[in-house]
Amino acid sequence: MEVLIFDNETGASQYAASVFSKLIRERPGAVLGLATGSTPCLLYAELCRQHAEEGLDFSGTTSFNLDEYVGLEDKNPASYRYFMQQVLFDHVNARAERIHLPNGMSNDIPATCEDYEKRISAAGGIDLQVLGLGGDGHIGFNEPSSSLASRTRIKTLTRETRQDNARFFNTIEEVPRHCITMGIGTIMEARQIVLLAFGERKAKAVRQVVEGPITAMVPATILQMHPSVVVLLDEAAATSLDQRDYYKEVAVNKPDWQRI
Ligand code: GLP
Repeated sequence: MEVLIFDNETGASQYAASVFSKLIRERPGAVLGLATGSTPCLLYAELCRQHAEEGLDFSGTTSFNLDEYVGLEDKNPASYRYFMQQVLFDHVNARAERIHLPNGMSNDIPATCEDYEKRISAAGGIDLQVLGLGGDGHIGFNEPSSSLASRTRIKTLTRETRQDNARFFNTIEEVPRHCITMGIGTIMEARQIVLLAFGERKAKAVRQVVEGPITAMVPATILQMHPSVVVLLDEAAATSLDQRDYYKEVAVNKPDWQRI
């Protein structure tokens, strides 16, 4: 795990954008794993800027989003499909038929989940997955106690997650209880992973993910087993890390050939 600590969210998001744009330029048919939540918003804004001003071309890319609520239509402003259209898809030239989110309106959820896994495989697997981090250490919507080998499936959201996400709804009662999420096993098959976490609110989970033992009770800790993960933090999210100075030393002394 590489841990990079930036002065602020902007610096970390610019770095994440450069990982994405490098991949897309080198591999125009790249398969992207995308996330929702407030954390990747600046990353998406920078990708939109690079598309508009520098010609970053999404026309050959395929994307798979991590998750979607069950029971929300695409046009519902709280749905993840709606969110992704607003922050990214409406502003870049990604082809509609290559954009994938789990279908939370399906009346056969197990079949939908199986189909999602098949589509990921048929696309050749995910080249680069961006992840945010839930306050309880979840990735996608894989809540604590999720199987570390899980595949795309329905999950029941915890009270904490529903409270965290209530800000996108009028009342907490409106926050769906269920979602479809890529599994942890699915996420772990991505060839490269970028985890973003910002703000003091995430500091405890960040410490568990980077320095704690691997446990299904903090699902993101499994990322310690992935061969290519970079964790991008702002100073506030890094405050609880024991080895913070060491991570900074590693970054400063990184050989040129390892830099992007
Ligand atoms: C939701 C999403 C996660 C996201 C998390 C953190 O639960 N399903 O993918 O990482 O929220 O959200 P935020 O980035 O808003 O802190």
